[in-house]
Amino acid sequence: MTGEQLQDIPADQYWEDFYRAKDTVWSGNANPILVREVTGLASGTALDLGCGEGADAIWLARRGWRVTAVDVSSTALDRAAGHAAEGGVADRVDWQRHDLGHSFPTGAFDLVSAQFLHSPVDIPRDRILRSAAAAVAPGGTLLVAGHAGWPSWADDDRPDVHFPTTDEVLDALDLPAGQWRVDRQETLERSLTSPDGRPGTRTDNLLRVRRLTGPEA
Ligand SMILES: C[S@@+](CC[C@H](N)C(=O)[O-])C[C@H]1O[C@@H](n2cnc3c(N)ncnc32)[C@H](O)[C@@H]1O
Repeated sequence: MTGEQLQDIPADQYWEDFYRAKDTVWSGNANPILVREVTGLASGTALDLGCGEGADAIWLARRGWRVTAVDVSSTALDRAAGHAAEGGVADRVDWQRHDLGHSFPTGAFDLVSAQFLHSPVDIPRDRILRSAAAAVAPGGTLLVAGHAGWPSWADDDRPDVHFPTTDEVLDALDLPAGQWRVDRQETLERSLTSPDGRPGTRTDNLLRVRRLTGPEA
């Protein structure tokens, strides 16, 4: 299927088919970037955008966070809720189905996390990330992690796909001056294994910003 044909598929249909095609898609481990950045933060309320099968939300819940976790796929959310029940944290996660291009959870959160909120079908990612920033409580953190490129073994790169840099994400957020502080802006390479078992690498972008509680010192 070409990039243009993909653009015509609604996000809910694409991602529902994506999850239904396999019993399990992701590893079940929390994203290392989330683990690194959140370890040391006092727990509070968290919002996980594009939570998939729930590994990040469950990791947060186990560390005392009260989590609202959102995905467009009800299959992914059902699996995530099952894993949370198995892990004894069902009462700490509110699983909500939203197509974030059309609706967004209500509330203010101490942590809003968007980990690899990428989609081969069109989503208004910049607008979603602006809503994410608006949902951060005073003193809270917005953490956006995204791929910086294709994995090293990929030979089917789509030149029409652009992976935003941290500067581009920051520009898109359009944060009001003096009300936010950039805590981390980083590009990291990690090792991983290709689906057919070959060693490789992938580079990711990380942006972590904090909403200030008062004028910047
Ligand atoms: C690349 S996966 C990342 C999943 C998870 N955050 C992780 O890091 O493993 C992108 C996730 O975003 C969800 N997603 C894509 N478009 C969405 C939308 N418009 N609204 C809500 N969730 C969406 C997908 O269903 C999928 O679970």
